[in-house]
Amino acid sequence: MSKAPLYKVPENFRDAHITPQKYQEMYQRSIDDPSAFWADMATDFLDWDQTWSRVVDYNFCKGQAQWFNDAELNVSYNCIDRHLPKRANQTAFIWEGDDPDYSVSISYAELKDEVCKLANALKARGVMKGDRVCIYLPMIPQAAYAMLACTRIGAVHSVVFGGFSPEALKDRILDADCRVVITADESTRGGKNTPLKINVDKALEGCPDVHTCFVVKNTQKDIPWVEERDLCYYDTVNWMSNDCPPVSMAAEDPLFILYTSGSTGKPKGVLHTTAGYLLQAAMTFKYTFDYQEGEVYWCTADVGWVTGHSYIVYGPLCNGATSLMFEGVPTYPDAGRCWEIIDKHQVNIFYTAPTAIRALQAQGDEFVVRSSRSSLRLLGTVGEPINPEAWEWYYHVVGEARCPIVDTWWQTETGTHMITALPGATDLKPGSASFPFFGVQLALLNEDGSEIDGAGSGYLVVKSSWPSQIRTIYGDHQRLIDTYFSHYKGYYFTGDGATRDEDGYYWITGRVDDVLNVSGHRMGTAEVESALVLHQKVAEAAVVGFPHEIKGQGIYCYVTLMDNAEVDENLRAELIALCNKEIGPIAKPDIIQWAPGLPKTRSGKIMRRILRKIAESDVDALGDITTLADPSVVEVLVKDRLSIN
Ligand code: WTA
Repeated sequence: MSKAPLYKVPENFRDAHITPQKYQEMYQRSIDDPSAFWADMATDFLDWDQTWSRVVDYNFCKGQAQWFNDAELNVSYNCIDRHLPKRANQTAFIWEGDDPDYSVSISYAELKDEVCKLANALKARGVMKGDRVCIYLPMIPQAAYAMLACTRIGAVHSVVFGGFSPEALKDRILDADCRVVITADESTRGGKNTPLKINVDKALEGCPDVHTCFVVKNTQKDIPWVEERDLCYYDTVNWMSNDCPPVSMAAEDPLFILYTSGSTGKPKGVLHTTAGYLLQAAMTFKYTFDYQEGEVYWCTADVGWVTGHSYIVYGPLCNGATSLMFEGVPTYPDAGRCWEIIDKHQVNIFYTAPTAIRALQAQGDEFVVRSSRSSLRLLGTVGEPINPEAWEWYYHVVGEARCPIVDTWWQTETGTHMITALPGATDLKPGSASFPFFGVQLALLNEDGSEIDGAGSGYLVVKSSWPSQIRTIYGDHQRLIDTYFSHYKGYYFTGDGATRDEDGYYWITGRVDDVLNVSGHRMGTAEVESALVLHQKVAEAAVVGFPHEIKGQGIYCYVTLMDNAEVDENLRAELIALCNKEIGPIAKPDIIQWAPGLPKTRSGKIMRRILRKIAESDVDALGDITTLADPSVVEVLVKDRLSIN
């Protein structure tokens, strides 16, 4: 890995916010004196209603962290109002529709009006500080208005990705006890419409406490309407005053809940709080992307994921930036769409996922080279390890070897970037996320919990608190402790493995737990298994990941049927439909293998290690199978694997 090519900091980044020397100095100070470092950052980056008496208190054994504890501020004020004297007419959001002929610019002044009007509408429906509001919207500006309107009045948003099924939506609404939902009639992506409101109606059959559902008329489709509960977004919001004073929130008041997958079947409601999250979102945005005044920045993520929260909405707006929001998909009308958007809006910074890069690479260079891309200055990636081939293509073909690539490693739980190159400070190695961000103290651990010195591979952990750290799992603090703070006492356990090379660069190798990363979407194998076993013919299911050219990982399902069940040709389709219903289209199994038996230890534990190897067709390296209760099942699985492509 240390032999990887090294791409030096380009000349035009010599004046970046962070130079090599500045990185060293700031990083050192952030570790030696975190309180002083973060106090300075907090003063530079945010406007406060009341200052703090202590910067940080934390206890990893109890899973506790408090940053700027008794200080007060408001997130929407920091993202909107304070910019108005200078930027009222500057574009806050460029919205590019699925239809290439349709785009809109929203200024900071307009953003303020929209956010205040919706905040007043929420208040009129009884939403108070601390109440949870579910947002289930397409990639339309109202998604950002809704998030910011919640923060204005101190409500806690829970954004649910529009690709989740009614069942998954219902679970999330119930878990967070949301009483208000904001949705749209339909979403439009790649020329196809998805019935969001109908999904909400189905979900709400199981959520009797939801009393209000705002519906954005997005495609104008005729949809069923529940009187009293359903409100037309425009009709309601347009009557409201555009004046809504921001509520002063305590630094540790909850800001949002975002559900993510873990190794058990039930998604976790990751809770982030106000000040620490906003500070690190703002800081990483400015430094990782070296954002310069007046630049246009585009992150292709969906607001339903943490990347959309931190790097479409909060990070950019807190810096007074112009953020592009795209409703569609990179391959519609064709695979040149991203590059056309970059030319159309003169995008300077482009941030996307390796799965999108691989998918576009597979379509051929002609879609890229027919565009100019001369506005581009910086490229970024997030979500999964980027393979060097995709990196090189992104660098040479998309960026014409003039745009550095920042490979950002982080998680829903970390809130913001944790390991990343800084374009003015870091020489790049393709495939490495490179170095820790300010204040982030990493370690690699051996199985026994001892720290690895120098170069080596192990479990990636964080040694001390950082401002945008997860505060709890909503309603289940013990699960937070069990998941992140119990494997290795005194450390935050990331669930990822990593290698550190001789130059100190970090290379993420992927999850070490039962979490899949399918096209950058996190999914618990247990979630898919729970869906599969709902079928009456299924006795048992075991799901593992396998290498997939475009998605990074594909979903491989071993399914054991009931004794008397027969495989008819519909069964496969029925199982896929079940995953779709329980989770959503992102959970579609790639391969289903009928398994007469599963490899289990004598105590009944499924040996996933073996199943992973078989799925990878790496059957010569199965390792020791003598501890299995019935080693012969392996032979059958291997034989059957050969007949599947
Ligand atoms: C993976 C997405 C390698 C990792 C922001 C992590 C990455 C999980 C990278 C979190 C990267 C994210 N290189 N792997 N640059 N970024 N990951 O919560 O396994 O959806 O634990 O957050 O994605 O996924 P999540």
